[in-house]
Amino acid sequence: MLVAEYSILDPLSSIFYSLSSFVLLVFIRGSKIKNHGIMEKVAINAAEVNNRKFMIISVINQKGGVGKTTTAVNLGAALAEKGQRVLIVDLDAQHNASSLCGTRETTASMFDVLVDPEEQPLEGIVRPSLIDNVDLAPGHRALAGLESALLNVVGREMLLREALDPVRERYQAILIDNGPTLGIGPAMSLCAADMALVPLQCEHLALDGLAQVLQTISTAQRRTNAQLQKRILLTMLDRRINSAKDIVTAVQGRFGREVCQTIISRSSKLDIGVGSVLQHAPTSNAAEDYRALAQEMIGNPH
Ligand SMILES: Nc1ncnc2c1ncn2[C@@H]1O[C@H](COP(=O)(O)OP(=O)(O)O)[C@@H](O)[C@H]1O
Ligand SMILES: [Mg+2]
Repeated sequence: MLVAEYSILDPLSSIFYSLSSFVLLVFIRGSKIKNHGIMEKVAINAAEVNNRKFMIISVINQKGGVGKTTTAVNLGAALAEKGQRVLIVDLDAQHNASSLCGTRETTASMFDVLVDPEEQPLEGIVRPSLIDNVDLAPGHRALAGLESALLNVVGREMLLREALDPVRERYQAILIDNGPTLGIGPAMSLCAADMALVPLQCEHLALDGLAQVLQTISTAQRRTNAQLQKRILLTMLDRRINSAKDIVTAVQGRFGREVCQTIISRSSKLDIGVGSVLQHAPTSNAAEDYRALAQEMIGNPH
């Protein structure tokens, strides 16, 4: 309408108006295309973080003693406390997660599930743990031989993902506790997971070996699991030690939003025989740390 009126009044203004409309149109279309990209990203992130029916987290770092097992079990307990049904999958030959969950070495374990899935489906080894609402798929020392047992199996990275398929509907969260390697067990867990959670001890030499695990994660993202997210979890922080605080600053500066907001402080309360810190010391800072981490994982950072 306006263009028509202009063209009647003044042909020059009409040309000017048409030109500027064209430029405006191109600009709007351009920004729409750009925005569409952003919107899509936002939508995917929101779906991933907020509206998930379940999530699978692989707790991974080839270094021992960084807090993988402690995190798998206590994060599991904290998610369960928030009403989620949780499964802990123990892929470590030392089966510490199984011990924390109150299970000594069992006859059938994740080893059998991965090596002979037809004979031993995962449902057959899942058992309740000592922690309410947390089930366990136990580990076994036989897992030390997983690499050689699967040497000639084509597509072995897929085995855990396939094994979890029939049970994933029963749980809102599945936490995989890996042993201190970057072998076939962790590779399978990265293929099955939505998130790789890398515990990193806040101490001298913490960054040693980090590049290796991050490299393994990006290889998995490229080859077997393009959706895999990555988060670094700072653990065992002693706030009285300045160098520990420097490590926090350095890691946050380097990895930004890929670092969990929650930091797990050093606490003797976490050195427990069986069960979770939420059971043993429900009001402790350590229990609060893992509750905050659970909240962050569910998608509502505190
Ligand atoms: N935040 C923490 N504060 C104090 N001790 C911790 C903390 N997290 C873990 N630990 C202890 O450190 C040791 C190693 O932790 P663990 O979870 O077994 O590591 P990983 O599974 O990576 O080998 C265990 O004795 C555990 O109780
Ligand atoms: Mg461990």
